[in-house]
Amino acid sequence: MRILLASPVDPGAATRLAAGHDVRRLGSGADLPGELVRAVADREVVVLRSGVVLDAEALAAATRLRLVVRAGSGVDNIDLDSARQNRVRVVRVPGMSAPPVAEMTFALLLSLARNVTLADRLVRAGHWPKPELGGPLLRGKVLGIVGAGNIGSEVGRMAAAWGMRVLGCVARPSPAAEARLAGHGIELCDVDEVTARADFVTLHVPLDDSTFHMVDAAVLERMRPGSLLVNMARGGVVDEKALYEALVERSTVAGAALDVHESEGEGVVPQLAELPNVVLTPHIGAMALDSQRLIGDRLVALIDAFDAGRLDEEVRDGEHVV
Ligand code: MLT
Repeated sequence: MRILLASPVDPGAATRLAAGHDVRRLGSGADLPGELVRAVADREVVVLRSGVVLDAEALAAATRLRLVVRAGSGVDNIDLDSARQNRVRVVRVPGMSAPPVAEMTFALLLSLARNVTLADRLVRAGHWPKPELGGPLLRGKVLGIVGAGNIGSEVGRMAAAWGMRVLGCVARPSPAAEARLAGHGIELCDVDEVTARADFVTLHVPLDDSTFHMVDAAVLERMRPGSLLVNMARGGVVDEKALYEALVERSTVAGAALDVHESEGEGVVPQLAELPNVVLTPHIGAMALDSQRLIGDRLVALIDAFDAGRLDEEVRDGEHVV
C-alpha cells in the first residue's frame, strides 16, 4: 500500500512498514504550507501524531485515502466529519498512552512542587538559593483530576499509592463510573469541586467544543491559594492568557506545568515562558520509548489487518473512531 508517515513513529515500526509497502515520510510534521496536502495526494494510508492537522482540505486532496491511523489517542487534529463523508476509516491507538502520560504527569507535579527546573536554571547561573526553593510534599495533599478516563485514572492510581487524596471528574458521571474510579482510589466529584478543593489540579480531557477553555479565568479564580496546575490534555483546554494573569497575581494558582500548548511547534515561545513559576515541555507526555515501541507494533498490526481486509476483526475497544 502507499503509506504516508506524516509524523515520526517508532523507527522499528517505520522500517517494518517500509519493507512491505511504499512509504513516504514527512519530517517532524508538515510545517511548510501545502506540504501535507501534496504529500497525501496519492496515499492510501496516513499515519500521524499530534502536530499534524488532517483538515478538510488535506482530506479532499487525498482522493485515494482509505485509512488514517492516529498513533496515539487524541483525534482533535483530524476532521472526522470530512473523513466520514469521504469514506475514510480512522483508527487510533489509545491503550499504550496511559502509563507514559501518567508518569510524565508526576514528573511535572514534582518539578513544580519542588522547583526542580527553576533550581536547575539557577544552579547553572551560579546561584545556590537553598532557603528560597522549598515546596510542598505530595503525600497528604489533594490531587484533582479533570478527566478521570484511561489516562486520568492511571494518574489517580499512582497518586493514591503516593499517599495523596484523589478527586476526579468525568464527562458522564454514573454509579458505574463512581465504582470504577473508587477501584483506583479516586473519589468522583463534579468539575467545580475538583478544581476548587485540590492542591494540585491535573487535566486529562480530550479537546472538543465542550472542553475548549474549560480552565478559564473563573475556574482559576476558584482554585486554592498556592495550588498548582498541570496540563497534559490539549493546549486549548486552558485559556493561557487567563492563566498568565492568574500566575502573575498568585492569589490562587501559584504555578503551572504545561506539556501541551495553545500554539505548538518549532520557533513558538509561549508568553508563559516569561514566568519563573512555570514549567514547559514540548508535548512529550507519550514519549516514553517503551510505549512508542508498543504503539509502533500496534499501528503495524492495524495496517497489516487493513491490507488483508480484516480491520474490523483486528480493532480493539477504543481504537475505532470512524
Ligand atoms: C496522544 O494524543 O496520544 C498524544 O498527543 C501523543 C502524540 O501524538 O504526541
